[in-house]
Amino acid sequence: MPPARVAVLVSGGGTNLQALLDAAADPWFPADIVKVVSNIPGVFALERAARAGVPSVVIEHKGKPREAFEQELLAALGEVDIVCLAGFMRVLTPTFLGAFPHRVMNIHPALLPAFPGTHGARQALEYGATQAGATCHLVDAGVDTGPILAQGSVPVLAGDTEATLAARILTVEHRLYPMCLRWMAEGRVRVEGRRAQVELHQGEARWILGTGGSPP
Ligand code: GRF
Repeated sequence: MPPARVAVLVSGGGTNLQALLDAAADPWFPADIVKVVSNIPGVFALERAARAGVPSVVIEHKGKPREAFEQELLAALGEVDIVCLAGFMRVLTPTFLGAFPHRVMNIHPALLPAFPGTHGARQALEYGATQAGATCHLVDAGVDTGPILAQGSVPVLAGDTEATLAARILTVEHRLYPMCLRWMAEGRVRVEGRRAQVELHQGEARWILGTGGSPP
C-alpha cells in the first residue's frame, strides 16, 4: 500500500507538526506529510516545514467570509488522504469536512469530553482536576466533539502553572498524534456513530500514561 498523503494545518509554533514530521521521516511510517498550510503568516511551523523539505502555503482567514477561506484551503490541499489539524485555531464547517469524511484529525490538550475549546490546561487547573492530558480525535462539525481515537493522561502537580501543565500535556500530544496517524494511514479506524473503533495490533492501546511524577 502506498503511504497515505497527509496535509497538516497549523496556526502557531508547530510542535505537533514536528512530531508528525519526525515520525514520517522513518521510511517505514505509512504516511507522508506532503503539505503544510498555515492561516497565520510567519509562524514557526512554516520554518519547520521548510527544514523538512515539505511545501507550505499561507492562506489567511482574516477579512474573508468563512466559505471563501475554506474554498481556498480546499484548493490548496488538492488530493490528500488525511488532514491533520495541529494547533490550527479555526473551526471548520461541514463544507470543508465533507471533502474528507472521517479523515480530518485533531489533537486537543484535554481529556475530552472535559474541557473542549481553548486553554485546556488552564481549564483543568481552574477546575481542580488532578489528571489532565490530551485527546487525538476525528473532527466533526462541533468544537472538539468528534470520535476519540486515543487519549494520554498526565498528573496535575502541586505548584503547576498553566505553562508547566501545558508543557507536560504537550509531551503526550507528541506521542499520541503519530500513533493515531499511523492507525488512520493503515486504514485501521472505523467510525460507528459517535465512536471510533480501532483495529489494534499486539502491544498497542488507545491510552498512554505520560510522566510527571509519581504519587507520594
Ligand atoms: C497544542 O496544545 C495543541 O493541542 C493545540 O494547540 C497547541 C499548540 O500546538 N491545539 P503546536 O505546538 O503548535 O503543535
